[in-house]
Amino acid sequence: MKYRNFPMVPRVVFGDNSFSQLGEILMPKRKNSEAPFIYLIDDVFETKELISKIPLLFDDQIIFISSEEEPKTAQVDAVVAIIKETFAELPSGIIGIGGGTLLDMAKAVAIMLTNTGSSVDYQGWDLVKKPAIYHVGIPTISGTGAEVSRTTVLMGPEKKLGINSDFTPFDQVVLDPNLTIGVSKEQWFYTGMDCYIHCIESLNGTYLNAFSQSYGEKALELCKEVYLSNISAEDSRDKLMMASWHGGMSIAYSQVGVAHAMSYGLAYVLGVKHGIGNCLVFQYLEEFYPEGVKVFKQMQEKHQIKLPKGVCAGLTDEQFETMINVSFGLAPLWENALGENWKEIMTYDKLLSLYKLI
Ligand SMILES: [Fe+2]
Repeated sequence: MKYRNFPMVPRVVFGDNSFSQLGEILMPKRKNSEAPFIYLIDDVFETKELISKIPLLFDDQIIFISSEEEPKTAQVDAVVAIIKETFAELPSGIIGIGGGTLLDMAKAVAIMLTNTGSSVDYQGWDLVKKPAIYHVGIPTISGTGAEVSRTTVLMGPEKKLGINSDFTPFDQVVLDPNLTIGVSKEQWFYTGMDCYIHCIESLNGTYLNAFSQSYGEKALELCKEVYLSNISAEDSRDKLMMASWHGGMSIAYSQVGVAHAMSYGLAYVLGVKHGIGNCLVFQYLEEFYPEGVKVFKQMQEKHQIKLPKGVCAGLTDEQFETMINVSFGLAPLWENALGENWKEIMTYDKLLSLYKLI
């Protein structure tokens, strides 16, 4: 047995309004006045107060990015090309501010500024050759675990797959729960359920070990407090932010499972976003996660979240086939969920019938 030696985020600051310390945090990382910090920010903040608090100096630049769709390899390559054309030297760092989409974009751009070719070439495991430039993640919604993970999930021309590497994790994360104020109830639910599902899939997987379990159990407990008990809004923001962190840590040393494998297929063919995609799938997974699905439905009921129906209605056989192939391509997820003989348990027809429920 060879154990993985994986990197963690070396620096993190946590607390309400900790965002105001960003300037101070970045100061020693600035290489010189010609090497700017580039901020990739979710465009929903374009007119918000947050922008006036960005500690811009010299040639620092803000690039607004839409999170309407999941991050794409072409988008990463385009942002990297713009930065290279605009500045004579490499930036001092990349700062991603937003949800999973923006955090993943920031990680991918930081990698692609030092690695040649297209980001497509690095989708997979341990394909990145050179260290990324300094990169900082600042989540404005909690749940994805992107702030702590060693992957950056991108939609490519042929697949939805992460750039999993030792160079992917952020060098610095700023966890400011106040930045999550203003998220809609639906988005809060879907993204938080991503974290909840990370816990369920990790804790019920064959890859489970004490490392993953210790983080997964804590994250699950926090999710239940946030979504099933009546705690204050402030408490809830703090706890969900830490649940996301722990959920991400839990899957780092194990793996996700059936819901994620299926959700990737859904995203690839229909462009369904990760959080809602997981929920759409998870509601039909009683067979694999009986207790997890029961509690999920209690949470859904308490917050009166109605999931869309008939999402896969009207898909052609060819589209279903693509969806299934993308999903089956994620072998480690299936193996974690169902064991080495997963192909005997999850057959083509079985997966097709599950997709048809959605
Ligand atoms: Fe996820």
